[in-house]
Order: sequence, then structure tokens, then C-alpha cells
Amino acid sequence: MSRTPLIAANWKMNPVPDGALTSDSPFHPQHGVDTIVFPTFLELISCIGEGLPTGAQYGHADSTGAHTGDVSMTMLKKVGCQFVLCGHSERRRDHGEEDSDVVAQAEAALRNGLHPVICVGETEAERKTKRHKQVVERQVRVLPLREAVTIAYEPVWAIGTGVTPTPEQAQDMHAFIRSLIPEARRETTRILYGGSLNPENALELLQQPDIDGGLVGKISLGPDNFAKIVLAAIQARN
Ligand code: PGA
Repeated sequence: MSRTPLIAANWKMNPVPDGALTSDSPFHPQHGVDTIVFPTFLELISCIGEGLPTGAQYGHADSTGAHTGDVSMTMLKKVGCQFVLCGHSERRRDHGEEDSDVVAQAEAALRNGLHPVICVGETEAERKTKRHKQVVERQVRVLPLREAVTIAYEPVWAIGTGVTPTPEQAQDMHAFIRSLIPEARRETTRILYGGSLNPENALELLQQPDIDGGLVGKISLGPDNFAKIVLAAIQARN
């Protein structure tokens, strides 16, 4: 089963990179590679207006209500978002989001016709004490995996650190995550790798059979580097 690679840009709390909002920007899908951009809430509409496949970095599970500072999945759908990140480790860390919140968000996304890209991954301490699979299994088992979702495996210790798992370690975890997906969706669900993905390490990681693309943070702020990762995704499939 061949899954179309997906390379997603998580711009976090940064402005849209210069050159991203043009018709020839590398953030548009190309050559058999799907793309998504995740800008801040404020820049969703300009990305959608440029025709980029666009997602929000977070959405509240309730449709409306007394949640100061939040934006709901219903609202995101209404402005033309197609995707939403759920459970990024920075949300888990900064906003105390727990597995149950992440599930509620993913379910709300699906109810509203948004495709959730759901992040899972262990901390450094959990990896060092060999609990990484146990933790990821706990995070994955609760997810609505009978629906069409994307999973992003992002080891917390690899995010923004310049350190990555070896391709073998990443493949091992991706295959493990795939084994947890119900059979009807197992071969079609995309599992992205995220955490210090860059033009130098992308090919080796993306060549792994269960790594279906990447969720790219810091490096995606440079369109040229993002383009190189897209190219690596194309090469990895050839
Ligand atoms: P990074 O971030 O590529 O800067 O490590 C990835 C992410 O947090 O999604």
C-alpha cells in the first residue's frame, strides 16, 4: 500500500515566512507530495486565500461558549480550514492538555469536518527509562482511529533540539503505532515524523516504510529548506 507523503509546516508562534504566500511557494502540494501549513490563528485566512492546504494549531472542542482566548473547530471550519493539530507537546506542556482533551479535540474536529493531525510522543525521561512504547501506546489507544486521522510521532526530546531518533528507532515506533491502528485503517493512515527534521536527515527518515511524511517546525520557517524536505519525500518514494 503506498501512502502519499505529507509534509506539514508547523510555524508555531511565528509570522508566515516571506515568500510563503505566492502561487509558486513550496508550501503548495507538488509532485505527489501533500502539504499543510499551520500558521497562527491570525494568519489562517491569508493562507487559505492563497489556496494553501491550511490547518490551525489548536481548536477548542466546544462549538461556542465562555472560553476566553479560544477558537472552536466550528469556527475554524467556517473560515475554510481543512486541518487542525491536536495534542502538540507544546500544548500539552504550556496549556496542560491531557489525553482526554486531545481526544475531545480530535472528535470535535471530525464532527466539524476537519481532519485532525494528532501528535503523540514520549519525553526524554520516558525514553531513558524504556517506557516510550508504553506512553505512546497510552496516547494512541484512546484516539478515534476508526476515522480518517493523521498521527504525528514527535518525541518531545527531539523537538527543537537538533537531536533525532535514528531512522531505525523512528521506524520501530512508527511500525508499533501502526500496529495499534484498527485493521480497516491500518494501511491508509499516515504517520508523520516530527522533531528536528531538516534537509540533512529527512531522506533517511522518510525512506522508512512506516514514515509517511513529516511535521516540520523551525526548519519550515525557511521556504528553501522546506522545499528540500519535500524533495526528500519525493526521492524517498522513488
Ligand atoms: P522542530 O518542531 O522541527 O522545530 O523540532 C517540530 C514540531 O514541534 O512540530
